[in-house]
Amino acid sequence: MRTNCFFYRKKKYSIDPNGVITRKSPSNIALIKYWGKHNKKIQIPLNSSISYSLEGVYTVTRLIYHLKERKKRNPSIKIFFSGKEKTSFLPKIFEFFHRISFYCSYLLDFNFIIETYNTFPHSSGIASSASSMSALALCIMEIEKKLVSSLKEDFFLKKASFLARLGSGSACRSIYPGLVVWGHHKSIKGSNNFYAIPYPYKVHPIFTKMVDTILIIDEKPKKILSSKGHQLMNIHPYAKERFKCANKNMNHLISILKVGDLQEFGELIEHEALTLHAMIMTSRPYFLWMKPNTLNVLYSVWNFRIQSKKNIYFTLDAGANVHLLYPIEEKKSILKWIYSDLISFCTKIIESFCY
Ligand code: PMV
Repeated sequence: MRTNCFFYRKKKYSIDPNGVITRKSPSNIALIKYWGKHNKKIQIPLNSSISYSLEGVYTVTRLIYHLKERKKRNPSIKIFFSGKEKTSFLPKIFEFFHRISFYCSYLLDFNFIIETYNTFPHSSGIASSASSMSALALCIMEIEKKLVSSLKEDFFLKKASFLARLGSGSACRSIYPGLVVWGHHKSIKGSNNFYAIPYPYKVHPIFTKMVDTILIIDEKPKKILSSKGHQLMNIHPYAKERFKCANKNMNHLISILKVGDLQEFGELIEHEALTLHAMIMTSRPYFLWMKPNTLNVLYSVWNFRIQSKKNIYFTLDAGANVHLLYPIEEKKSILKWIYSDLISFCTKIIESFCY
């Protein structure tokens, strides 16, 4: 696939020298996980993934830009997170700007202040890099839209996804609502490694109204960041089998989504979640993201499912927290159970929807 279309080519433009843009973007939870990327290429996944974007779990970013008087190599950037200046975020942001300035040359003409906040704890296993990088990519595309009045919405979103990917792989999926695919898969038309696309096939109505209740078990930042975990897949003895399995699971999910088989869906997403954790547990160096309370929740879900016959399934991200997915029709009784039986295992419960 050619990505030349994403280069910004105009040499001259006019824009207000100062401006403010605000965009919000959701986190997402993967059903088929992206874990492993090509070593020497930038953010190219080793398997395709699919996620739900999450309503109510998002980042809001305000991008303040000032046209520079004299062009320098790099823009000056200040970043504030929940009102406090965060110089520790700067290396990642500079790296991001460095990567994307190749495609958005106008960025070098500005200085920036980024003000951002999340509706959830950062670095806790909820994909904060996904929502923050996608929100920032959307803000940057808003600048591009000011420079190119003919810019079409479709291109706006595609390029936002393309840019977000260069910040954090899974961020490219947060640009779209609902079910979103990233990474080439031969059974999914339009899927590619450079930007995400909305899931293009028929989805049974049951999967268009799913609830995601997120149990925060550990709010502390992770000890191993996902970028390191991805790297470890390049020397992982089971990596090849994992990528084959992810491919097969994607094919299976396509038919599940079509026919609306909830039990098969649940089995598949739990298998994917445990496989992701199995990969990090068997990496060198190895690591364990789950906490005792993660296991308490998983066993409770399995027991409750057997006793109540309710359709509640878990998935996990790169961390200790648990996402519980279930159809909206079962929300009342399941939430009641969560608040009575699981509350003691977590520090916070976040209610969200897969929209
Ligand atoms: O986007 P990254 O590089 O932080 O990778 C995140 C990968 C997982 O969240 C663990 C899985 C996924 O597909 O979202």
